[in-house]
Amino acid sequence: MRPTERQLRAQLAFFHDFIRIQGAQGDPYAKVLGVPDNPYPHYEEARARGRLHRSTLGSWVTADHGLANQILRDRRVGVRKANGEKNPEFIAFDNSMLGVDPPDHTRLRRIAAPTLNHRMADGWRSRVQEICDRLIDDILAEDGPFDFMTAFAQRLPVAVIADLVGIPERSRADFHRISRRMVPLLEGVVTYEQTQSTEAAIKEITELLVDIIAERKAEPRDDMISRLLPLVDDGSMTMAELVPMVTFVPLAGSETTVNLIGNGILALLTHPEQWRLLAERPELAAGAAEETLRYDAPVQQYRRFAHEEIELAGWKVPVDGELTILAGGANRDPQVFPDPNTFDITRAVGADTLAFSAGIHYCMGASLAKAEAEIAFATLVRRIPRLRRAGPIRRGGSFIIRGMAEFPLATR
Ligand code: HEM
Repeated sequence: MRPTERQLRAQLAFFHDFIRIQGAQGDPYAKVLGVPDNPYPHYEEARARGRLHRSTLGSWVTADHGLANQILRDRRVGVRKANGEKNPEFIAFDNSMLGVDPPDHTRLRRIAAPTLNHRMADGWRSRVQEICDRLIDDILAEDGPFDFMTAFAQRLPVAVIADLVGIPERSRADFHRISRRMVPLLEGVVTYEQTQSTEAAIKEITELLVDIIAERKAEPRDDMISRLLPLVDDGSMTMAELVPMVTFVPLAGSETTVNLIGNGILALLTHPEQWRLLAERPELAAGAAEETLRYDAPVQQYRRFAHEEIELAGWKVPVDGELTILAGGANRDPQVFPDPNTFDITRAVGADTLAFSAGIHYCMGASLAKAEAEIAFATLVRRIPRLRRAGPIRRGGSFIIRGMAEFPLATR
């Protein structure tokens, strides 16, 4: 039975109070859930408690890179509980890849692979460049202080994803507006109003997509919807799976990339010597994207459940025990990254970052996201070399997605 508004509000209020009290009593994970401006010292506190520790909130928590990597690749853990029960906070992802375990996961991922693969990113580069240039033209035409998030960081990934999925021009504004309202699903819903608004947004985007799917069926193009439709016809997937898949991709690929671009520009402008280095050597833009993913990851944590009793770092985690991977913390583990709190775009981060997870749920859009950030950083530093901060930032209110809601900048 669905909880009433009063019950839901009471549950959320209890949850927030409990977290606040546990945080005040020193639990590092509870402090992280309180969404501090700077969570990184709390990840260090978590690591100081051992490779794995039990939070007073019940979860087993790690910020140790080696252990985090091992858990994400461990076939004895899953995104659902052992009996397949859904993670209640994952409503949006119920039937999407990220919300299911094998064998469903294996099948859905195989279906999506040809539409989202490594080679795809190369095909997108010229389109990404074109969008970046157009957005920068608009910023320069305004010739005044501007909000980088709304003027650039939010626009590029949504435009790319709309192309990729196959959203027609006339539905772009609706798609952008609805996608923004779905963001709390990725961030973790925290208020009653958000549950109402996001549920309504899922309904709206589903309706929008059902119309577009019908259109693409009649007239296929080179986009994700058109490529998936024949698979419904030949029985490889159901229509009930196609809609969540095309709904999930904009959700997974937009707000994450938005914050990679935002967090990267913030780190570069906060470390002016790195910005100057990038201006002198624009070929370091790919390194700047990698280093941002390590230094200030857009997705800070992942959750798994043990499917059998597992021994991990001296603990016996029982069946359905919840494991929290503090990826933002693991990315600053000094065992793997020397001098981890230093932002250095010449650092060879390579495959070591856990910013895109690891194992079977490894992000399918990683190459595309990195290409977008690389082209964005290189183009911004070339075309607006005097880009500078023009006021205080306002952070988003999520402990999962790390980024800014407002980022005032000036062009000179
Ligand atoms: C900077 C940008 C991005 C970041 C940081 C990011 C991060 C992640 C992470 C951490 C996961 C796995 C979460 C877990 O293990 O619990 C994931 C999964 C996924 N991502 Fe991304 N992502 C980004 C961009 C994209 C883009 C652009 C797309 C698509 C165009 C995309 C599509 C997906 C898909 C389909 C999955 C599910 C994979 C699976 O469950 O097997 N992501 N992403």
